[in-house]
Amino acid sequence: MSIGTSLPHDAATLHVTGRARYVDDQPLPGNTLHLAFGLSEIARGRILKMDLSKVLDSEGVFGVLTAKDLPYENDTSPAAKDEPLLAETDVYYIGQPIFIVMAKSHLAARKAARKAKIEYGTLVPILTIQEALDADSRFEEGPRIYKKGNASRAISRSKCKLSGSFMIGGQEHFYLEGQAALAIPSEDDEITVHSSTQHPSEIQHKVADALGFGMHQVRVEVRRMGGGFGGKESQANGLAIACAVAAIATDRPCKMRYDRDDDFIITGKRHEFKIDYEVGFDQTGKINGLSFFHYVRCGWSQDLSLPVADRAMLHADNAYNLSHCRIESHRLRTNMQSATAFRGFGGPQGMLGIERVIDHIAHDLGLDSLLVRQRNYYKDAKDINLKDKDMQTTPYGMKVKDFVLNAMTDEIVKTSDYHNRRKEIEDWNINSSVLKRGIALTPVKFGISFTLTHLNQAGALVHLYQDGTVRLNHGGTEMGQGLFQKVAQIAAKSFGLELSLIKITATDTGKVPNTSATAASSGTDLNGMAVKLACHEICDRISQFLAEYYQEKTAIVRFYGGSVHIGKHEITFQNAVQLCYQNRISLSATGFYKTPDIFWDRIKGDGRPFFYFAQGVSVSEVVIDTLTGENRLLRTDLLHDAGASLNPAIDIGQVEGGYAQGVGWLTTEELVWSDAGKLMTHAPSTYKIPVASDRPAIFNVSLWKNENAEETIYRSKAIGEPPFMLGFSAFFALSHAATFSGENYPDLSTPATHERLFWACERVEHGD
Ligand code: MTE
Ligand code: MOS
Repeated sequence: MSIGTSLPHDAATLHVTGRARYVDDQPLPGNTLHLAFGLSEIARGRILKMDLSKVLDSEGVFGVLTAKDLPYENDTSPAAKDEPLLAETDVYYIGQPIFIVMAKSHLAARKAARKAKIEYGTLVPILTIQEALDADSRFEEGPRIYKKGNASRAISRSKCKLSGSFMIGGQEHFYLEGQAALAIPSEDDEITVHSSTQHPSEIQHKVADALGFGMHQVRVEVRRMGGGFGGKESQANGLAIACAVAAIATDRPCKMRYDRDDDFIITGKRHEFKIDYEVGFDQTGKINGLSFFHYVRCGWSQDLSLPVADRAMLHADNAYNLSHCRIESHRLRTNMQSATAFRGFGGPQGMLGIERVIDHIAHDLGLDSLLVRQRNYYKDAKDINLKDKDMQTTPYGMKVKDFVLNAMTDEIVKTSDYHNRRKEIEDWNINSSVLKRGIALTPVKFGISFTLTHLNQAGALVHLYQDGTVRLNHGGTEMGQGLFQKVAQIAAKSFGLELSLIKITATDTGKVPNTSATAASSGTDLNGMAVKLACHEICDRISQFLAEYYQEKTAIVRFYGGSVHIGKHEITFQNAVQLCYQNRISLSATGFYKTPDIFWDRIKGDGRPFFYFAQGVSVSEVVIDTLTGENRLLRTDLLHDAGASLNPAIDIGQVEGGYAQGVGWLTTEELVWSDAGKLMTHAPSTYKIPVASDRPAIFNVSLWKNENAEETIYRSKAIGEPPFMLGFSAFFALSHAATFSGENYPDLSTPATHERLFWACERVEHGD
């Protein structure tokens, strides 16, 4: 009964009553020091002289640490070792940490950090994509290229051709809880770190390397984050390492949290892209050949940029079967915050490329973009022959065996009354000179698994106590997405228990080792399965013992309704556990899971990087004021494929939240850097995220009844990232509305802010 039931988030009451404890809420020992970073004021150059005397004299300051004071490794990067915690001589962006202030209070540390006198030798920063291309400033020697068939030949032989170029903006994560860490040293070179991180094992690893410790000397605990969205996959490293280094240096607990402005200025965001495209198609809109160039603005260090840019390439097809396709990706190094993971991990940018191409083709041919989409879709699983050697494949050679978007599209066309509404909008717009309405339907197909294959593993540790209660540990982290509740439901189902008998605990590297980041939407798939395996191991031991005890060796043993059923015998779970304990049966087990059947060659761009695809469709209707670009979402219909949902309430929450965040990215959230490379939008006063009043006036959300074709945990599907891309329909509805201003294509870049929309309408009416 616990599987497939709509239950609230396990900590919902704690969240809304303010009793949920985040890192910043931990009670602190009296001698705790508070840290703040001193930051680079220039985007590129060399530190010539640093005078920290005023910092040291500032009220409440205990001391400062610079790169010279670091005991071992000076690096916060997830892999490339190119990201010093504190700058040594060269600085690469405005906001790069240069020194650490340790003080009696958070405010004293921040105030003091501003008092440094640093002299720089400045160089001209590389900021834009064009500047990076001109300077050949990049992270991999040349571009990466994935291809299928012969795109240039297919394009040149096509009756119809189009080319275009557009910009895709970045996005600040704006997790409600900012980055935070607390390190507590203990005896004999051991340290405990509380961190707001999606990746406790990486914090453990990086702290150990920074201190010259073994990983066994470092324990990392994460109870929850107040949102992560990818922004705490690697960006939590710096604070945790700083706290650990300062804690060992002073033998005092050390804590650091970023204020919102610091968080904006210091940490990485979603990657900005420029996408150029060339497409050949026929008069029905069927694509013959397609060529993409991705120019990726990665920022100053590599961070996760290579796999992010790879995932963008792997989603360049989105829902469409392309016979001839070529994708060329340039990973460019620039003097700004190092762009990082953000919900979708490059997938959204890749998918937006082809959706823009389809929108452009439809406008060119005067067709409804929905028809062009449907004409190019992969075939649904039920309509393909699995033995067919001409099986439909992605541009990277993976078979598409579980496609359901044709059926899902038919369904949402009906439930949203798409065709009638589109007709009605066209008629309405004729009589409305200033306000114009628009509607669009967009699909999502998103690959589930880490593309770095070895990350697709997870561990669990389940303890059953002699009173029949359960303490649940696994490697996943909770950031609001409801992972812990789903995993608890899986444990409850395994033992046949009420959820109240299962204690959800903080993630702890001392309990489950060598975990992957909670990312790539795979938290439940991986950790849920590991927990199930651990529970089943314990159940097997209990079953074996009880079968012998009742002399029912062939009987099937079942766990449900708070009891264990052995043939015709029934014993309460509690009594069964007591009996096992008295008979010295072990009641604790680990579980380990790895995703089967995936392999991937990222250099060749060939293999099966994903276990399966999560899918969804979205219809949005908007109205814009063509004189100002202001607009509203009038109605949204979403239909999302969560497989056999483990918890529909939580999944619908993810769909709604993902959509809203996707719309924010594509419409109001704009990052602006000055010509000197300073981020000018670094607080809610200048950076606009969606709020409750921005939600569509009518908002219909449902889950598609489906079972995962692959053997995932109870045939469910990952839900964390895919709904983010449902937000596309709002963007293309705006593009559609703009077309009613005249003849030309709106040629919109993102975010489609009021200003950009205004200019798009002008272009449509008057040309460039
Ligand atoms: N939902 C909430 N409420 N808060 C978050 O930070 N992060 C998203 C998604 N949904 C996030 C969220 C991202 S980027 C990912 S990868 C997944 O949740 C991670 O969790 P999962 O693997 O358990 O789905
Ligand atoms: Mo999510 S971007 O994989 O943390």
